[in-house]
Formats: sequence, C-alpha cells, structure tokens
Amino acid sequence: MRTMIQDSGSRPASPPALRAALLRWYRIHARPLPWRRTNDAYAIWVSEVMLQQTQVLTVIPYYERFLRAFPTCRALARASFDKVAEFWSGLGYYRRARLLHRAARLIVNDFEGHFPETYEAARQLPGVGHYTACAVLSIAYGTPFPVLDGNVARVASRLRGLSGNLHDVKFRKEIEKQLRELLSTRRPGDFNQALMELGQLVCLPRNPRCPSCPLRKCCRASLSGDPERYPAPRPRRLSETYHLAAAVIVCDGKVGLVRGLDDHLLSDLWNFPSRFGLTPHEALENLKGTLISDGSPSPRVIRRLGAIHHRITFRNISAQVYEFPRDAVTRPLRWFSWRRLQTAAISQLARKTAAVAEHRLHA
Ligand code: ADE
Repeated sequence: MRTMIQDSGSRPASPPALRAALLRWYRIHARPLPWRRTNDAYAIWVSEVMLQQTQVLTVIPYYERFLRAFPTCRALARASFDKVAEFWSGLGYYRRARLLHRAARLIVNDFEGHFPETYEAARQLPGVGHYTACAVLSIAYGTPFPVLDGNVARVASRLRGLSGNLHDVKFRKEIEKQLRELLSTRRPGDFNQALMELGQLVCLPRNPRCPSCPLRKCCRASLSGDPERYPAPRPRRLSETYHLAAAVIVCDGKVGLVRGLDDHLLSDLWNFPSRFGLTPHEALENLKGTLISDGSPSPRVIRRLGAIHHRITFRNISAQVYEFPRDAVTRPLRWFSWRRLQTAAISQLARKTAAVAEHRLHA
C-alpha cells in the first residue's frame, strides 16, 4: 500500500507527485556548486568528506584548491600526508583528511583508482560511513540510497509531522523509512541533493520560508502553523572551557613545533608544544612537567607573550602563550620559519598562537 499524504484541503499528495514537485524545484533553484558539475566519483567523494562538518560556502574554495592539487585519486594517493594537510589546513577535523588520504591509497591498490561501486566495498574504506557511502553512490553512480543528514531529517520530519530527535534510533529509522518511500529511483542523486538544498535554503531551522517551498501544500508542519516545532530541539552539549599553555621556542629565527596538541587532539598537525590543565596555572605546570620529562634541565618561562581563544567542536580553549628558552626542550622539534608557518600543515590554533607570538617577538 502506498503512503498518501493529505493536505489541508484534503488533496492527497502521492510520493510520485511529491518527488516530481521536489525535482522540478531543484532543477530551477539548485545552486551551481562545483561538485555538481561532475559525475567523477572521486571528486564527489572529496566534496562529501569536506561537507561532513563544514558549511557549503566555506567548503567551496577549499574544494577547488584541493582538486586542482589532487585532480585524481592516484594524485591524492601519491602525495605525502603533509602536503594533503596543507590543502586541508583551515577546514578543521583533520582526521577526515588523514582517512581520505589512506582510503585513496587503498582505492589505488585494490580498485585501480576507481571509487568502489558497491555499498559493501565502499564501507570498507577508512572514513566512509553509512552517510558518505550512500551520498557518493547515489550522486556518482545513481544507486538508489537515501541520505539522511540534519537538513534532510528536518525536511522529512516537517513534511510528515514527525517530532523526535535524530539521535534517537527509533526516530531515525522512521525518517529513513519515509525517505525510502519518497526516493526517486531514477534520479536518486538529484533527489538527495534536492532535499539537502531545500533544507539549506528554504526549510530553515528558524523562520522557514514556507511560501517558497514546493512541498508546502502537503507539509504537515507548515499546515500546523508552527513548523519550527519539528523536529524536537536537540539536547545541547554544554560547552566547556579548557585551559591550555603553549610553548614558543625560537632558535635562529625559526620556531619549534611538535606533532599533535594534547589529549589526542589535532594529532595529524604541527603545533606548539602544549598541555591542558583545569586552570591556567595547572596547564603551565603540566607543560613544564612535559618539558622536564622530555629531559629539559630548566624549563623556565622567559615571558608570557599573550593569550588566545579558540573553539574545537564543543571545547572552548583558552590558551596562554609563553616563550621558553631553546634548552627548555630536548625532544626533537620540527623547525619552521615564520614565513613557512603561513602555508605549513599547522592547526588553526597554532596559527593563532604564531600570530600572537610573532607580533610580540618582533614588536
Ligand atoms: N551537504 C552534503 N552533501 C551535499 C551536497 N552534495 N550538496 C550540498 N550540500 C551537501
């Protein structure tokens, strides 16, 4: 039996009618995003990985630069990770770049450089979860998988008047079931992107633009008069403040960096030697402890250079930046000139730290 949706005037909207209205709207309103100009699965995969935690408008310039540097899966596989991280620098969530690079090497070895065409094979790749596999396979190969991200979930939950939370498995399963019924099997990639586009441009979390929506006449939430009630608001994770102490060590006009930060954060990127603590004082003591345990005879601070604030997901990081003498650390450091720091694969946090340090040291 096919699901029928009633609009307020009791006119039924069947899945085919909804699908047609959605695809017609997409044909007219879709933004000409660079990954929509290609059906190369590699390029689409890169876009989906970049878009996982980053907004469309932020991704565009990174995506274009990345594809110019690594136009094929083979080019990406051949590159060193440091080079890949340079082109990722600023996008954040560097683990994505690490896994993308690893997966590219596997694709070259096991699939002759061609992104796999089956769900099972795609899911074997590092960093390719259910969402990414469904997105790439539907968009690049036209395989009829629905995709469910936060925007799509909001559209579907409003359309059907389903209240719930995406983190709730039962609610998720219900939305996925609704999407499978609606999915266009002829144009699944356009269908999925049309729902994403509708969620990003029209069916907004606050003040949705219902009068511009192609589905308004059969949208339960819009017809209820209070579309914002759907889906249920997500319980917020409280953001916490973390105190960090960072060591700036200068030698012959170069600064010494290490891989990783502390607490397994940013482990793929170059950073100033740093430690967290519950207070600024504790962070500094922890940092000195690290320097001592690395064999330093005298980890004394020369001076405090300044402070920076930075956010990594739910962590508010408040960092104090200290200058240490060259002999404060005996573990191997990688030395970067100030100029090289501008393009190296360093974290945004390190970039901000470098700006504060350079300003004070050269004042
Ligand atoms: N978010 C994730 N994938 C997307 C796509 N293909 N287009 C727009 N936004 C997206």
